[in-house]
Amino acid sequence: MALASMFDGPHASVFTLSTTDSWHIMGVIAVFLVVYSFALVVHRLWYSPLAGFPGPKHLAVTSWYETVVDLFSHDFPERLCNMHEKYGPIVRVAPSELHINDADYFTTVFAAAASHRTDIIPPRGLGMDDSLGSTTHHDLHQLRRKPLDRFLSRQNVMRLQGIIHNEIRILDRMILTAKGKGTAVRLDHAFASFTGDVVGQVACGESPGLLDGPNFTPEWYTMIRGAAKAIPLLRHFPQIGSVMQCVPAGLLQKIFPNSTGFKILQLLGEKQIARIRTEVDREMKGETEVNSSMFHHLLRSDIPELEKHPTRLNAEAVSFLGAGTYPTAATLILTAYYILATPNVEDRLRNELKDVMARFDDEVPNYVDVEQVEYLGACIKEGLRILRLFRRKGRLSADEDLHYKQWTIPKNTLVTMSPYSLHMDPDVFPDPHQFNPERWLSKDPDPRMDRNLVPFLKGSRNCIGMK
Ligand code: HEM
Repeated sequence: MALASMFDGPHASVFTLSTTDSWHIMGVIAVFLVVYSFALVVHRLWYSPLAGFPGPKHLAVTSWYETVVDLFSHDFPERLCNMHEKYGPIVRVAPSELHINDADYFTTVFAAAASHRTDIIPPRGLGMDDSLGSTTHHDLHQLRRKPLDRFLSRQNVMRLQGIIHNEIRILDRMILTAKGKGTAVRLDHAFASFTGDVVGQVACGESPGLLDGPNFTPEWYTMIRGAAKAIPLLRHFPQIGSVMQCVPAGLLQKIFPNSTGFKILQLLGEKQIARIRTEVDREMKGETEVNSSMFHHLLRSDIPELEKHPTRLNAEAVSFLGAGTYPTAATLILTAYYILATPNVEDRLRNELKDVMARFDDEVPNYVDVEQVEYLGACIKEGLRILRLFRRKGRLSADEDLHYKQWTIPKNTLVTMSPYSLHMDPDVFPDPHQFNPERWLSKDPDPRMDRNLVPFLKGSRNCIGMK
């Protein structure tokens, strides 16, 4: 009522615009936009601090080109390789981004904390804005990472092996049951549920029981894959993600079946954090048994209270459930596929695993013993090498300029590199698309192979779950 009546009465004419006035205003806006766009183009091409770097002019002018490619032809990484062939190892691939293709420079960009502080431009709209992996600034990231690093240290992960062993037994039982019935097993469903259960148990102290579900709960795989598929769209249009978070999951499922993944992860995360919080509160009063999951550990730690806020921990839960489940499942799926599709690899692996698996299933082999099976390690390295998940990742050096050959890269510039390009370098990995574990077992190994294999990235923000 108030709003309507404001425009009535004697002053109404003050707010009345004639058609001519409207055209004038629109004209002024149009002229402003043209002048602004022109000035922006001139600035980006000639006056930006990145103006002198090589690269195609259309990418220096706008990021929209990449958006269109990502939405319709999905081959930007291949186009990036062609650009390096044309322009050299450093290319300006967006108005404020440089892409470098040089394995020797990897640890300068993905630097350790002792070398320099690194910021990131985090993805937004995924429901994990406040999580470790989405923390923009170096110092806050380090504060958040410290207690988690302790929990996910190799030593502690060794102590958590029992969780993995239990899930292996369930997986084995389910596969044998399917075999007994003569039913085919979808390994993608089985592995996604396996990793979901392990991460759920390690992070939240409760297995979601996905492996036990009928046919390994295929809905989980569909959901988590849908979330991964939505990433390119949300990367360019994070606003869509923010709106999606307000829409009920059921409705969202009907409109955009692929996009519900993050929403469901978010609901799952919220439920888990609420439960853990109640458990830790009760534990403080001496009422319940101590649970040793990662979030219990985090809630008991001495990090600032603000860091224990439900919104932040919910975001962390979404991040861990997603980041822990999908890449691990994808690696298992791809590696298992190549092993089973290459009979000589399968035969050799079975043979080399004989000793360590001798007492299975009375006893699941210990990680330290499994680690000794070199051929298994070589198969895993090949799987991680061929995996195409992380195609372009970036960091910003927060306080100091970086130097690359004759170039000075101003501090706070987004510098990206592509692990997959390093993994596919035919000079280092001859016949790079071939799954060839033997290449890792040479008597005289090429040191460039380990240098080029960076599936978990490097430095202060590398994968925390890699142990
Ligand atoms: C084969 C399996 C995995 C691969 C290939 C992988 C790969 C990666 C990569 C490349 C990053 C860096 C992402 C970036 O900088 O944007 C990353 C970060 C991360 N990963 Fe993994 N990951 C795997 C398994 C896991 C597991 C099992 C967990 C959880 C237990 C996990 C949790 C995380 C978290 C929380 C981060 C963010 C770390 C930070 O920003 O400090 N990942 N992972």
